[in-house]
Amino acid sequence: MNGTNRYDKTIGIWMSDKKSQKLNWNELVCVCASHGYNLTKLDLERPLEDQGPIDIFLHKLTDILAAADQGDAKASFTISRVEQYLSNHSNVIVIDPLDNVRILLNRYRYYSILHNEPSFRNQSIMTPNFAEFTTSDVDLNYDIMIQRGVKFPVICKPSLAHGSKLAHEMVVIFNKTGLSVCKPPCVVQSFVNHNAVLHKVFLIGNRYHICERPSLKNFNASENLAPIFYSTGEVCKADSQSTLSILDPHDIADVRMTLNEDKIRSIIRVLRKEIGLVLAGFDVVIDNVTGDHAVIDINVFPSYDNFPDFFEHFLECIDEIVNRSTQNVCKSDVSNICQYTSGNMSNGFMNVSLCPSKYGVTGMNIN
Ligand SMILES: Nc1ncnc2c1ncn2[C@@H]1O[C@H](COP(=O)(O)OP(=O)(O)O)[C@@H](O)[C@H]1O
Ligand SMILES: [Mg+2]
Repeated sequence: MNGTNRYDKTIGIWMSDKKSQKLNWNELVCVCASHGYNLTKLDLERPLEDQGPIDIFLHKLTDILAAADQGDAKASFTISRVEQYLSNHSNVIVIDPLDNVRILLNRYRYYSILHNEPSFRNQSIMTPNFAEFTTSDVDLNYDIMIQRGVKFPVICKPSLAHGSKLAHEMVVIFNKTGLSVCKPPCVVQSFVNHNAVLHKVFLIGNRYHICERPSLKNFNASENLAPIFYSTGEVCKADSQSTLSILDPHDIADVRMTLNEDKIRSIIRVLRKEIGLVLAGFDVVIDNVTGDHAVIDINVFPSYDNFPDFFEHFLECIDEIVNRSTQNVCKSDVSNICQYTSGNMSNGFMNVSLCPSKYGVTGMNIN
């Protein structure tokens, strides 16, 4: 894979061994080659200068960034090495810039961006009310959450959204007594009843793909219920079979809320502007009473399960970024490119599920 000069440009890629083992490398190498790119797997334990020139630095550094922010010396060293390299090679296109990725490491930080977005208010898009706990003082925490309009039931989530499995250990809490299980730093967020349907949106620039996943059943506040602990993977994976997803009999008759794709595009527009990642995803649940679309999570470089022709769309997006950057578009505009003028477009965004699949390859992993 390394050391060939047949190609115009080189993509240097880094991801964890775990991600790397799942990645469909054969497909990625082929599609890169067909677009004229060489692919180099980077080793962050060695100086990046020694690994040949690269034009594009593609990475999934979230866990290392999170560990560095937590004071891990080895992770800090790795991130400094990457940042130094990128500052010495400012012509390298980074997917995605580390400072933009950092925004999504902390749930409180990105919920605040969503919460303050004025354009959401008249479109019935929202992020549920949330508050951050930095101590274990239940009385104080209760006051904080009430002051911020957070209502039971709540979901308690670690503030740190990446870095380990712990970042996905959640608790549904039904009353003040239950707040004693919160482990700071964490956020509590009002629970939105959504009939156990989660909509996951995967983005590559302005291309998107939406799929449904199981989610939590409906809950109501109660003085009697004990907190319910769960991890996201147990409940929300495509093949999860958790009893927490089985609707109670009186909820089953509920009218099914349909996803409004205009709202999804409005959310994408805001994320592109405010967070500016090419590779991102977000989770939406629909309030089963109001129909409001609630954004409950944003992810960096997500799994892209079932994304039709993932590699082809990804390389087309890279081509567009490279072309714009060689046409002297300011680097800070990179996140806003990947605009389309062709069919299957709506307001500059493309739902890839509406394009005929040319290659029949879904997602980025070996299935
Ligand atoms: N405010 C909420 N209301 C209802 N369900 C929620 C809410 N927040 C999270 N969930 C449920 O918990 C799951 C995990 O929460 P999420 O914030 O997406 O964390 P993760 O980073 O682990 O994906 C979601 O997929 C959804 O099923
Ligand atoms: Mg999620």
